[in-house]
Amino acid sequence: MKKLWSGRFNAATALSVEEFTESISFDQRLWRYDIEGSIAHTKMLAHQGIISHKDAEDIIEGLNSIARDIETGAFVFKQELEDIHMNIESALIHRIGDVGGKVHTARSRNDQVALDLRLYLRHETSLIINLLKDLQDVLIDIAKIHTRTIMPGYTHLQRAQPVTLAHYMLAYLEMFKRDIERLRDVYKRINTMPLGACALAGTTLNTDRAYTAELLGFDRISENSIDAVSDRDFVIEFISDVSIIMMHLSRMAEELILWATEEFSFIKLSDAFTTGSSIMPQKKNPDVLELIRGKTGKIYGALINILTTMKGLPLAYNRDMQEDKTPLFEVIDTIKAVLSILTELLGSVTFNVERLLNTAGSGYSLATDLAEYLVKKGIPFRNAHEITGRVVRYCIDNNAELESLSLDIYKEFSSVIGEDIYHKLTLSASVTARTSLGGTSPTEVERQIKNFLRDYRNKI
Ligand code: ARG
Repeated sequence: MKKLWSGRFNAATALSVEEFTESISFDQRLWRYDIEGSIAHTKMLAHQGIISHKDAEDIIEGLNSIARDIETGAFVFKQELEDIHMNIESALIHRIGDVGGKVHTARSRNDQVALDLRLYLRHETSLIINLLKDLQDVLIDIAKIHTRTIMPGYTHLQRAQPVTLAHYMLAYLEMFKRDIERLRDVYKRINTMPLGACALAGTTLNTDRAYTAELLGFDRISENSIDAVSDRDFVIEFISDVSIIMMHLSRMAEELILWATEEFSFIKLSDAFTTGSSIMPQKKNPDVLELIRGKTGKIYGALINILTTMKGLPLAYNRDMQEDKTPLFEVIDTIKAVLSILTELLGSVTFNVERLLNTAGSGYSLATDLAEYLVKKGIPFRNAHEITGRVVRYCIDNNAELESLSLDIYKEFSSVIGEDIYHKLTLSASVTARTSLGGTSPTEVERQIKNFLRDYRNKI
């Protein structure tokens, strides 16, 4: 088949080169955006009198018929036509004749591929934001039910202080809030139109880039045509944002895996979201969560991949940039699959409320409450910490709990301790009293939920 660029060549391309350089096997997923971009470009060319309205109509009709055929699977993609842009343009010329050759006026594949990628990524970014919102909805559902469910909070994976389960879930909600904010931020830079930059230098033809941008719903137009065709920052930023999301999801997966162990027994994963072992009949394995954690590696790999591809490139377009697509597509497929399955899985988790409560109390987790009690009686915090430390030491040596020591014993540690200490040394008193902004008390957690639903959710 004759190449669209065959003019200056005497010999045909070697088959090995065609195989090595093609991208149609993977960039065909951009077809919808390629056609959308070409239709807008054609309208602009006619609007500017660069081509006739009749030619534009024929081109648009031809492009729509190609779209229909790709949709139904009737369209045959050809490796010798290299990429999605030339496959579609060549089919257009084949269908409507020489006039099809006018679609590529005042355009190059360099700005065309940048355009397609931006249109595609803009769409996918919105989908991913919605998937993050679905996950947030499940967290909110759990939080609403468990504002008074007490569990151990950890630092260094050692029991630290009792917290509410709702509070714990809302910590993840915050991470995903930031993730959404980051995606919305990169969206602005994705939503910048490169078309019209042509190969790198612009064109002598009287184009109107603002008109094309408006047709395609772009907020901005790239300011410099050399930058427009050589910039892949938006891909790098997007993948780095997804890397952070995956880091969050991997942490959550790790936590759920721990909680599902016999040792923790904080949660039960539903049978539908666990798998069995081929040898040990008793096993119920959290493979889905392990795979979420495991897939994080290839997302980070994709980030290093694209950063490394770009690092040595002189301006402007270089063919190396064709290699941006495979990591990007893999990142998009992975994050979408991970987000939807984690949302489903989390919705089916059962919390072992009794176990959470029983675990929260042990390990002198109310020691800070005792120290803060002393502070309220006027003792400087550093001394209060020291006194409490000695009480804990005493409890450990005498195999006792904080709340079981007699008042006489307490008085030996500090004369300010009175009968009222016993009201403070319960899990529910401890949690209820942590009303500082962002704290773990049910009232504070309810405020966080209400704020999220009222202010934040409406804004995004
Ligand atoms: N398939 C190419 C890519 O993905 C399209 C741009 C090719 N441009 C060129 N001058 N060879 O980057």
